[in-house]
Amino acid sequence: MEIVKASTRFETNAGYLSGEDISQGKKYLSELKGIFADRDAFDRMDPHTPVYEVQMHQSVVQETAGGLFFGISRLFPGKVGNEYFMTKGHFHQLRDRAEYYWGISGVGVLLFMDERRKVTAYQVEPGSLHYIPGHIAHRLVNTGNIDLVVGACWPSDSGHDYDSILQDGFLVRVYEQDGKPVLRLTENESI
Ligand code: PA5
Ligand code: NI
Repeated sequence: MEIVKASTRFETNAGYLSGEDISQGKKYLSELKGIFADRDAFDRMDPHTPVYEVQMHQSVVQETAGGLFFGISRLFPGKVGNEYFMTKGHFHQLRDRAEYYWGISGVGVLLFMDERRKVTAYQVEPGSLHYIPGHIAHRLVNTGNIDLVVGACWPSDSGHDYDSILQDGFLVRVYEQDGKPVLRLTENESI
């Protein structure tokens, strides 16, 4: 019997996965149409601008019950108008599936929204740990000027439901005002 070396590496400081069973994908601005509030500013930007990339260790096939996935999300700094770059955001397809996020580098905001659209915003920073219960939509926002890198672990049968977010959006958006992040209701009220 021998001690087996891991076939996959997680570079904790760099926030990078390498080795076997890693898949990765990049999201460009063109794939985020309708997500940001300022449509004119969006149309003026280069659609090939990268907004975020996700690396994932795919240990089992999608939808396997009882397995786990492990991912690293890297959200680049930037804004559309005054609204910070953010992920699409999703509920899990199987609504009761939970997830862990943890901050690796950069600063940002993790938005939670429940099924009644009540939003809570948490500060993400290196070392912050976030438990996302089931039935909670989640979206990351980069409010800093370096990459926001976040680790994630979630059940392999969770799935992603993007449609309800694309349709109704999150009720709260994160904007830069006087160099600082502020939260505003989508209807433009200050909260
Ligand atoms: O599983 C997660 O919640 C993350 O890995 C996200 O999928 C990732 O941050 C990208 O965000 P989204 O799936 O909303 O585009
Ligand atoms: Ni998720």
